[in-house]
Amino acid sequence: MKILGIETSCDETAAAVVEDGKKVLSSALASSAELHIKTGGIIPEQAARKQIESIIPVINNALETIGQDNIDAIAVTYGPGLIGSLLVGVETAKTLSLAWNKPLVPANHLVAHIYANWIEAKKQPEFPAVALVVSGGHTDFVLVKSHGDIKYLGGTRDDAAGEAFDKTARLLSLAYPGGPSISVAAEKYPTSNLDLFPRPMVNSNDLDTSFSGLKTAVLNYTKQNEGFDVNHLAAEIQEAIVDTLVAKSIKAVEKYNPKSFLLAGGVSANKRLREKIAEALKDKAEVFIPEPKYSTDNAAMIAASAFYNYKPVVWKEVTANPSLSIEN
Ligand code: KG4
Ligand code: ZN
Repeated sequence: MKILGIETSCDETAAAVVEDGKKVLSSALASSAELHIKTGGIIPEQAARKQIESIIPVINNALETIGQDNIDAIAVTYGPGLIGSLLVGVETAKTLSLAWNKPLVPANHLVAHIYANWIEAKKQPEFPAVALVVSGGHTDFVLVKSHGDIKYLGGTRDDAAGEAFDKTARLLSLAYPGGPSISVAAEKYPTSNLDLFPRPMVNSNDLDTSFSGLKTAVLNYTKQNEGFDVNHLAAEIQEAIVDTLVAKSIKAVEKYNPKSFLLAGGVSANKRLREKIAEALKDKAEVFIPEPKYSTDNAAMIAASAFYNYKPVVWKEVTANPSLSIEN
């Protein structure tokens, strides 16, 4: 089965055709990130306008060699995300579903991140699985008992992991998005003895995290230490976030004893996190981490998720939901 996936929840306009939830036949992407570099963060209105400009060319691109007649269904992100951006993908997908007479499958963006682990995978993840979705707006631990059976286990009480990268990068005057900028700067500094910033809640027995204290600690440090070394602080920030996520992941795996551990979301592109998670969990569960291009927002994960959770909905009944949760 060939599914056209459409993703427009934030600042990326993406379309991809994926066969049987695994094989990426085509993939096209436009991003308004350049615009947001200038402003140091996303302006939702601008992101939505850019989505409108890009959506048709991107879909055309993804269908160029395959042809619309050869796809079996259309999948689209209906939430969570920025309402203006979501609407562009959702309304376009509804129109195409009606015009081409193809089934329409609404996809939860957070759940779809997890399915990045099935794309081009040498081995299929086995259930039960514990997944950690770390993105710009979410830090969610979930138990996946089978396809679509998802239970929330814990997550951030304040800032998400990606948000912590983005906000602290701003304090260091590093470019948006903060995660990649911090990771590039951090690589210029040795990884030993990085313990400047707190790892809040690592010793609490739940799977909750908190990153807003890190932002305050970094702010105070930069005020008190003029002429600080950016690369050093970047390494300290990255290590504090990574250590917290690793400690909680160990807790999650020890508590639920899953067959697989699935890392997902934009922050899972982080090299240090990938290395430390793989090492920490290697004897406890089979660890899956998407290829970096499928960690950050993409449309292939939307199509993959729709294949394994194939529930078409009449186009009229699909509506964008900006605050959709991972359990829905
Ligand atoms: O999943 P994603 O692409 O979009 C959302 O659904 O939010 O995640 C974006 C987040 C941003 O906060 C960005 O800074 C972070 O992922 N990110 C990274 C890296 N690449 C992207 N964080 C740390 N290291 C990276 N290499
Ligand atoms: Zn995302």
